[in-house]
Amino acid sequence: MVPKQRIVQILSRHGAVVSGETLSAELGVSRVSIWKHIKGLIQDGTPIESSPKGYRLRPDGDNLHPYLFGDRQEQIHYFQETGSTMDEATRLAREGCPNFTVAVAQRQLNGRGRMQRAWVSDDGGLYFTMVVRPDIPLMLSGLVNLAAAVDMAELLSSRYDVNAGVKWPNDILVDGKKICGILSQMEAEGDHVVYLNIGMGLNVNNRPEKAEPNAASLRSLLDRQLPRREILSAFMDAFERRITTWDAGRVVAAWKSRNVTLQKRVRVETLRQTVEGLAVDLDQRGGLMLEMDDGSRQTVVHGDCFLVD
Ligand code: BTN
Repeated sequence: MVPKQRIVQILSRHGAVVSGETLSAELGVSRVSIWKHIKGLIQDGTPIESSPKGYRLRPDGDNLHPYLFGDRQEQIHYFQETGSTMDEATRLAREGCPNFTVAVAQRQLNGRGRMQRAWVSDDGGLYFTMVVRPDIPLMLSGLVNLAAAVDMAELLSSRYDVNAGVKWPNDILVDGKKICGILSQMEAEGDHVVYLNIGMGLNVNNRPEKAEPNAASLRSLLDRQLPRREILSAFMDAFERRITTWDAGRVVAAWKSRNVTLQKRVRVETLRQTVEGLAVDLDQRGGLMLEMDDGSRQTVVHGDCFLVD
């Protein structure tokens, strides 16, 4: 464990002011060196208060620092500010990080959405990318994204009592408004997925509806602030369980029972083409089956989906 992590761990264990002398004795380094590490931690956004008596970790309701994730702290790579957690996760994945490593950011300067759109990433939202190394055939990899959407929607519904549904391919809507978007990136070798990075942007304590009237956040729905780390921890628990006990049929069934797409008329746009029809089913690979106006059926496997009234 690096000195900064140890300092935070000691402060968190004490839950009160710890003197510079105690810290330097525990770490076996000088008090000047302790002060340099503390300064670095404060610059990274760690809520540490310093006084003549020593240092204290301020109990902070909405903090995403790895030390707050207990046993999971090695899995979490926190960035106060970064371009995009997708790029951080790709770097980590290529460096060989373990399954279920997470890159999470307080702010993204270049957050990305699907179809080459920007994803506004103001303070208060939960922006993270999880590196997954699923042991499943490449052709079923699309289901992993659907599983992530289902697990997040179930978590939001059960914990916060909001009516979260999944819209194909993997948006989460509450009462018709988008609360979470998912972007994935993958590297494969032959039929083998090397890594699949799942990026989620969940509106928690931010106010996205100012710029995007069709968006909602948990704060705007519930009228209170929520701790993002609890949501991330709960999602990691659920999603790790999902992947380690993988059952494609169960994912398809769970998605169908939470979906807000089937039996609706939809328009699906890709960068190359647009198709419109009635969404009738989800196939075993996560493709959306459309019934066209001439009665024929067509399955789309990617694209942006709009409900048409
Ligand atoms: C979409 O609905 O278009 C997908 C949005 C995905 C946004 C998340 S935020 C965390 C991760 N980093 C990014 O740059 N994008 C994803």
